[in-house]
Amino acid sequence: MTQESATQAEDMPIPPYGLRWGVKTSFVGYVARMPDGQAYLGEGAAVNERNELIFPLSEETPAEADAEQAFAFGGDVRFSGHFGMLFVRIAEPRIAVRGGEAELTVVDPESEEDKRLRLVTFTLTGPETEDGTERWEGADVRLTAEGVELFGDVYQAGEPFEPLTVTVPVREGR
Ligand code: HEM
Repeated sequence: MTQESATQAEDMPIPPYGLRWGVKTSFVGYVARMPDGQAYLGEGAAVNERNELIFPLSEETPAEADAEQAFAFGGDVRFSGHFGMLFVRIAEPRIAVRGGEAELTVVDPESEEDKRLRLVTFTLTGPETEDGTERWEGADVRLTAEGVELFGDVYQAGEPFEPLTVTVPVREGR
């Protein structure tokens, strides 16, 4: 991998609120091992020392009005390699919980419009509240059938992905 992400990791402020997600450690390692592998971080996305991505909490109110919980994040992360043949974009993630099951959607890289791709499902527990901050933990994170193509059909639906953490200011009236 080029130094782009590593350099940014040292210089870049980590947003206080947002989504922290390692995506899939073996995938990030795979891109890192490629001579031309790159992770571009834009729109306020950051990476920490454990190679986890941080997507900043969005000012936008999530549109998922039917959801029991909903969170929206900014940030645009693009993995590339194999001379452009590999390109995986994870941008503006949103989380919605319905019927106890949580899902994470991202901007659909195939869509010209504002369509979203349901990438992983998981169980979300929380919040743990401390010093005005709510922390939610996502566990048993699994790739959806719709997300298989994004990773070049290498992983099957149900493939385990990394756990994730959501940190937001305590929300009044919820
Ligand atoms: C020039 C074309 C490609 C070649 C030669 C290639 C080669 C390989 C090889 C050798 C591995 C296993 C080695 C390792 O784990 O380090 C691998 C794994 C993988 N490749 Fe590719 N690949 C290509 C294109 C793609 C594309 C277009 C995608 C789309 C996203 C992709 C996604 C993956 C994924 C997700 C894994 C599994 C990583 C893991 O979790 O271990 N590859 N590829």
